[in-house]
Amino acid sequence: MSTEQTKIDALAAALHETFGEAPEVAVVLGSGWKERAAGLLDEAQRVDCADLPGWPSPRVAGHGAELTLGQLAGRRTLLCGGRIHSYEGYPAADLVRGVRALAQWGTGSLLLLNAAGSLREDLPPGSLVALRDHINFGIPSPLRGDQTPEGKVEFVDLVDLYEPTWREALRQQCPDVEAGVYAGLPGPNYETPAEITMLARLGADLVGMSTIPEAIAARAVGVPVLALSMVTNLGAGLSGSRPSHGEVLDTAAAHGGRAAEVLSAAVSAAPRR
Ligand code: HPA
Repeated sequence: MSTEQTKIDALAAALHETFGEAPEVAVVLGSGWKERAAGLLDEAQRVDCADLPGWPSPRVAGHGAELTLGQLAGRRTLLCGGRIHSYEGYPAADLVRGVRALAQWGTGSLLLLNAAGSLREDLPPGSLVALRDHINFGIPSPLRGDQTPEGKVEFVDLVDLYEPTWREALRQQCPDVEAGVYAGLPGPNYETPAEITMLARLGADLVGMSTIPEAIAARAVGVPVLALSMVTNLGAGLSGSRPSHGEVLDTAAAHGGRAAEVLSAAVSAAPRR
């Protein structure tokens, strides 16, 4: 058996030992979402990611590393802080080990949250957008032969990767949530204004540096995915924007109230099995 499968097995076993039964919904919290999510769960049980074998810890401020399990919107929900990113230097297998272990444990569905730049002036900071698709501009795939649990290439279709029925159920409850296409770039530098112009012309609505690997890994094991972006800034060069990590965190904090409501609605709308 490959080392990666051994690590996933150990992590899935530790999750089971720590929390018991798997959650209906696991939520990967992105930049700025963690603070808002912390107080949302009833009867919460917490564990530090560092105490779980093989759960990689983040190296960037604003990504707190804790798993919290409890009830949210009447659903057994696990909030996962401490997302890691390709730009921190991690290989794709590390980025998605948590998702693979969550799936193996029996998690019902996966909600991925992120902060994103907007490519449209009519989607200003504070907007919440449910992804309807993505365009990947070079974030490494977790399905490459040397990144899969069994060390074999996996060919997987990504049609309707972001579950349309889940998205529409959320948008029924929260009509202010738009649907959009996310362009993923590896970062960590923000884009050039020329890149922003190109991405907008190609049909993307948002730009960010995360989410895609986890979504692909979940699809490969049949776990339904919804992804939600909070717009924290206009893309570089739009209305003179010069994005910064500080701005991303400040804007996310300023709009956290609505984000928490939408997060709760998204959990309540998750597929039931
Ligand atoms: N570009 C890429 N990633 C981001 C941005 C951005 O403008 N804002 C938040 N994450």
